[in-house]
Amino acid sequence: MKRWIIVCIYAGLLSGPAFADSGKAVYEKTCFACHGSGLLNAPKFGDKAAWAARIAQGKQTLYDHADNGFNSMPAHGGNDDLSGKDVQAAVDYMVQQADDHLAKK
Ligand code: HEC
Repeated sequence: MKRWIIVCIYAGLLSGPAFADSGKAVYEKTCFACHGSGLLNAPKFGDKAAWAARIAQGKQTLYDHADNGFNSMPAHGGNDDLSGKDVQAAVDYMVQQADDHLAKK
């Protein structure tokens, strides 16, 4: 529960009230397929070790890779219906979860 409150506050600060919902919704609809389980060696949701080196590349690189694809990571997670903004919101959501995990250890 506490985690969700933190997510909402963090997301709200970044880009307005609708943001947290959309990042989470996009993740659950599209990204979860691989990032929920680590399929194809995708960095797993909330796995701080898997995300640390990726986060260190900088947010812009993560956005680019999610937008354009990166190795087995398909552009837009393979979902052409998503806008660039949707994809970025999902990246923010996953990164925030990995960071939150990190803060708790
Ligand atoms: C078909 C499986 C699959 C789906 C669906 C998927 N990903 Fe990925 N993703 C991967 C894999 C595999 C990697 C690891 C690529 C590598 O490092 O070689 C990855 C890596 C990433 C990275 C890290 C890139 C980097 O520079 O290290 C981000 C960010 C990311 N995905 C975002 C997303 C987002 C956002 C979505 C949903 C819109 C999504 N992914 C959906 C498979 C997927």
